[in-house]
Amino acid sequence: MGQATKTPAAGGISRRDFLKSSATAGLGAALAGAAFGQDAPPAAPAPAAAKGGDELRVAVIGCGAQGRVLVESMLRIPSVRIAAICDIWSYSRQYTGNYLKKYGHLAAAYEDYRDLLASEKGLDAAIVATPDWVHAEHANACLRAGLPVYCEKEMSNSLEKARSMVLTARETGQLLQIGHQRRSNPRYIHAIDRLIRDKKILGRVTVNFAQWNRAKADLLGWPEKYAIDQATLDKYGYASMTEFRNWRLYKKYGGGPMVDLGSHQIDLFSWVHGAPPRSVVASGGLDYYRNWEWYDNVMAIYEYETKDGVCRAFYQVQTTTQHGGFYETFMGENGSLVLSEIPQRGNWAMREAHAPEWDSLAKAGLLQSEAVPIQKSSTKNIYVDVRVTAEAGRWPLPVELAKPAHQPHLENFFDAVRHGTPLNCPAELAYESCVAVLRTNEAVKARRVFEFRPEMFKA
Ligand SMILES: NC(=O)c1ccc[n+]([C@@H]2O[C@H](COP(=O)([O-])OP(=O)(O)OC[C@H]3O[C@@H](n4cnc5c(N)ncnc54)[C@H](O)[C@@H]3O)[C@@H](O)[C@H]2O)c1
Repeated sequence: MGQATKTPAAGGISRRDFLKSSATAGLGAALAGAAFGQDAPPAAPAPAAAKGGDELRVAVIGCGAQGRVLVESMLRIPSVRIAAICDIWSYSRQYTGNYLKKYGHLAAAYEDYRDLLASEKGLDAAIVATPDWVHAEHANACLRAGLPVYCEKEMSNSLEKARSMVLTARETGQLLQIGHQRRSNPRYIHAIDRLIRDKKILGRVTVNFAQWNRAKADLLGWPEKYAIDQATLDKYGYASMTEFRNWRLYKKYGGGPMVDLGSHQIDLFSWVHGAPPRSVVASGGLDYYRNWEWYDNVMAIYEYETKDGVCRAFYQVQTTTQHGGFYETFMGENGSLVLSEIPQRGNWAMREAHAPEWDSLAKAGLLQSEAVPIQKSSTKNIYVDVRVTAEAGRWPLPVELAKPAHQPHLENFFDAVRHGTPLNCPAELAYESCVAVLRTNEAVKARRVFEFRPEMFKA
């Protein structure tokens, strides 16, 4: 088993100082300064009051890119103490350990999660941010150790393993939140729950579209001096450093871009309709990259059976162009709503000219009062197609998220741990989108329509 190393004692800075410094200097700078090998800035001692009676002691398993994003958000949540971290890569352990130390969290560091669970007593929760293929092993072990778990999406790259997570949560009676963070984002809650579902602002939702387009990219590398020796890679099931770093692209460890990125957005289609899809037809391939295993592009069309009739949703993920970036559009007979986790790319509604008025919604504070006109062409003698019916204006949504994108979802998890508040993305719900995206990869392979049966979405 791996070695357990306690990080040395160090001073820290207060939460208020942290928030102040991150607001002024930018979190990127704060994170960069935390990289190991760099000196942490002089820090004031952590205030004694920081350790309150309702403090939650949390372990983080998987301290790579996303583990660090979650850590950064958790540092902003009062009374959450990161007591232990685990990662098989010394690079990730050191980076995260040093970052935490800077903010007064003296986390014990472990290579192997089994050592962490055996040694750490008095933990209150675990965060799992390892690659998809080991989520089930890590989450199930933590649940069985009596810990509520926040586990990153995708639940797993195997439906069988994802199912085991739902069953283990059920059997142990522990909370299992899956990291589809848009489910706790107040902008998405406002748009989907309040405007689309409650107020029926779009009328009947007839078509959805979402995309995640990324520019072409090289494989991820690693600092040579932090290369993991082959015996350790073998022990943890990785064939090589290339596969270890680029796990998403290989079938053993991940689900490719369709699962990695699509999981967030396909989940939204189901949220809007309150039900998973009834079928998917998809096309895709490994057409550009030579050294991947998974499809580098997928286009999929889902059908949803709604009480108003059928709604189709088109989804695409591209990895050779970032054209348009990532966003979702929900369209209906009376208007459309464009959302993106980056509000500049989508946080507004557009009304069809014939639709019932929206001024009363604006008066009630559900939309911003003034529709921002879309810039008109100054060219004269341009004949407008008489079939154009959309009102020339955007109605910005009034809700903003003044926090990192993952913070509300973590807050929802910790509220559930403390007070029993319902989880926004419990395992059963996440399992539905896991089925939808994993089966989409199968539909690409089979080159045929895949029909879902309702029981397929139940673990
Ligand atoms: N919710 C989101 O917006 C979001 C964004 C990015 C990634 N993710 C998810 O977060 C998870 C991690 O992704 P990432 O981008 O951080 O990947 P990453 O490769 O950057 O980090 C993974 C970390 O896990 C460690 N690891 C691998 N196997 C391990 C094991 N057996 N035990 C302990 N540690 C192990 C690695 O050493 C690495 O530090 C994935 O499930 C991914 O889908 C979610």
